Amino acid sequence: MSEHMEHQRNASPRVIAVASGKGGVGKTFFSIHLAARAAETGNRVLLMDADLGLANVDVMLGISAKASIREVVEEKTGLNQVLVHSDYGFDVLPGGSGLHTLTRLTPHQQQILLDELDVTGSDYDIVIIDTAAGIGENVLYFVSASESALIVLTPDPTSLTDAYALIKVLSRQRDMHRFMVIVNQADEIDAQITFRRLMSVADRYLDVHLDYMGHIPPSRDVRKAIQAQRLLSRDGGCPKAMQQTLDAVIRQPRDTSRGSGLQFFWQHSLNEALVSEPSLTVSAQGVNT
Ligand SMILES: Nc1ncnc2c1ncn2[C@@H]1O[C@H](COP(=O)(O)OP(=O)(O)OP(=O)(O)O)[C@@H](O)[C@H]1O
Ligand SMILES: [Mg+2]
Repeated sequence: MSEHMEHQRNASPRVIAVASGKGGVGKTFFSIHLAARAAETGNRVLLMDADLGLANVDVMLGISAKASIREVVEEKTGLNQVLVHSDYGFDVLPGGSGLHTLTRLTPHQQQILLDELDVTGSDYDIVIIDTAAGIGENVLYFVSASESALIVLTPDPTSLTDAYALIKVLSRQRDMHRFMVIVNQADEIDAQITFRRLMSVADRYLDVHLDYMGHIPPSRDVRKAIQAQRLLSRDGGCPKAMQQTLDAVIRQPRDTSRGSGLQFFWQHSLNEALVSEPSLTVSAQGVNT
């Protein structure tokens, strides 16, 4: 068993939501590699594609999914029937692709999904949730129902402002105050500058704690791997800094301040179903405090 195998077999799974605000910054790319590394180090891993309607996880992995979360929440099938085993030692819950996107799960649909996850989730040590771009209701729901949030950004200023907007909404409206942060497509210096920018504005205006987990350099191998529908391997193209970042996230202690894993997931959903929330009007544009 590996050096990272710290998780208790009988504990509730650690649930990490990967989010960004801005689209196209590398959330799905990172989530897949995080799932693969966590599996490689001895964890039972479920990767959930929470981009409902514009799913990418199955495409990036070259998996053909017959059904998805959509069919689960529409009560056409059970979650266990939808799971797909990847070639990389982890399971995938596909998000589904189609003409209409499930932009907002109803409280009833949330409840169906979480009831199913409450049962299936106990088979896993780690559940990684790859969310959609933006700060729509589904994103806020999936992130705030998770034990921890991992924010991906790039040195691009719009990525910074959108990450800030997402953190702001999650902290002020969803009571999340701790975030892991990774900077993609940046060398070490650019990544640290980017993280410090985010931290300085967050420190000034928000009640949050940001944990810098590392960076991923830009690499031509990434595009090649995505085109070939395969992962970067440790001995074939995966940059050392990326390996360190993945390991740092896996080694990060669990966040015990927010209940735990899918149990919390379940309770949260119940509370939300009982109290219907007004729609959000926060814009992802600009660093509006
Ligand atoms: N470190 C990197 N080096 C080079 N290219 C990268 C890197 N990370 C991501 N990319 C490129 O960015 C593209 C978008 O990545 P990905 O689909 O993971 O982003 P995303 O945040 O999940 O997007 P969306 O918001 O649409 O879900 C990839 O297809 C890849 O070409
Ligand atoms: Mg994606």
